Amino acid sequence: MIVAGNWKMNLNINEAIELSNGLLKHNEVFVEEKIIIFPSFLIIPEIYNLFKNSKISIGTQDCSMYDNGAFTGQVSAEMIKDAGCKYVIIGHSERRSLCHETSSIVSQKAVKAVSAGLKVIICIGENSKDREKGDYLFVLEDQLKQSLSDLSNDNNLLSNNIIIAYEPVWAIGTGNTASKKDIEEVHKFIKEIISSNYQFNYDLPILYGGSVNSKNSSEIFKINNVDGVLVGGASLKSDEFLKIIKNSM
Ligand code: PGA
Repeated sequence: MIVAGNWKMNLNINEAIELSNGLLKHNEVFVEEKIIIFPSFLIIPEIYNLFKNSKISIGTQDCSMYDNGAFTGQVSAEMIKDAGCKYVIIGHSERRSLCHETSSIVSQKAVKAVSAGLKVIICIGENSKDREKGDYLFVLEDQLKQSLSDLSNDNNLLSNNIIIAYEPVWAIGTGNTASKKDIEEVHKFIKEIISSNYQFNYDLPILYGGSVNSKNSSEIFKINNVDGVLVGGASLKSDEFLKIIKNSM
């Protein structure tokens, strides 16, 4: 199981160091490549230094769709790799809604990231209106296919480098975790789309995200086709995040 912690725009350097030290105390029980944390860009070098000899991997919450040049405020995939990161989250619903990031942009960013040697967590998720209307599976299929569109002709790029996170927008930060039935249905649907549209010998992991915590994570890990979780709020306290990691083992 993969347990990924998205710190979003939280934690100053001292708070982040304290949280990191809390996690590092348990390093010997962790499984390599299964725990990933996503600090803000600004504190990446500090946090990378703390974790560089540990089993915890570091990633960023976004990357640019460009290589370099006059793109004020952006950070390229090559720079992220150069800073020691192994992962990047692309297309988080907060970026899709607040920064108007389309699935086409997500796809172009994903190409830059895997080309730079990073592994990518691509987020998809329907909003509450899509769910109420009942057409959420169409919305998810469209997001998934478009977010992978620039990668789909090159299976080498997809191989071992892509992870999908299903994060229903209505479940993020609300305490309304999706039900077992909802998660099972969507994860099975995503696996089916992947296996019928892409010909590569790779069991692409699918994470669930949306109000995951230490109390509900054990049940989520038992659901078919759940390969891990993407955790926001509950990754900001070491005790809480450690309980989720423990539940994943
Ligand atoms: P949450 O956030 O766990 O706070 O709901 C999840 C996410 O946005 O990845």
